Amino acid sequence: MSRTKIIAGNWKMYKTIAEAVSFAYEFVAGFREGERETVVCAPFTQLPALKRAFSGSGVKLGAQNMHFEDEGAYTGEVSPGMLTEIGVDYCVIGHSERRQYFAETDETVNKKLKAAFAHGIAPIVCVGEVLEQRDAGKAFDVVKSQIEKGLSGLSREDAARLVVAYEPVWAIGTGRTATPDQAEEMCSFIRRTVKDLYDADTAAKTRIQYGGSVKPSNATELLSREEIDGALVGGASLSPVDFKSIIEF
Ligand code: PGA
Repeated sequence: MSRTKIIAGNWKMYKTIAEAVSFAYEFVAGFREGERETVVCAPFTQLPALKRAFSGSGVKLGAQNMHFEDEGAYTGEVSPGMLTEIGVDYCVIGHSERRQYFAETDETVNKKLKAAFAHGIAPIVCVGEVLEQRDAGKAFDVVKSQIEKGLSGLSREDAARLVVAYEPVWAIGTGRTATPDQAEEMCSFIRRTVKDLYDADTAAKTRIQYGGSVKPSNATELLSREEIDGALVGGASLSPVDFKSIIEF
């Protein structure tokens, strides 16, 4: 079963609209839509301008969060329908920074995954252990529980369409990347967990990325692994040159 590799940039809270547009024009110049899927997940304010700038290029657009309700008195939140109105393709759900600073839980992740699928937005759901959990030998239990709770009640079809990003929290923004063996071991464990929840056919379709200090110098060794279906790239996705070289690993 061959899965299309998916490389997504996560810009976090960086760039002005002008900077985003200038990234897009530089990135799109010479960009060829190949066998790999390319996504840029940007702050809300930049999404309409990026949609125009990426138009016709094959680069997909993603948000970094959304609410699970269609509308309501939720000051400061953005609904799935507001994202589809812009033409957003993907949305990052449950990033560790949202779990850590914005009280995101496996339960809200689960609601957001269901809402995303209901609105035709493809979610990239993030899971991963913190350093103390890895050192205590609990990494696999932690990730298993995040997957089981996060995916609870999702249909087979949705599980097959899902993108999971395995992001060990100790590797995010630290320059300390998981080794390709560590990354691949967890990605294949996640696939086995999806298989136990659904079936082998579904698990063979779910794409499982690695994220955490991916950069041009380590992209090839991570992304050429059979079980690693792509990358979620933070810091290195802010530079069009670095991001392009990761896509072209
Ligand atoms: P990083 O971030 O590549 O800067 O480590 C990854 C992420 O948080 O998605």
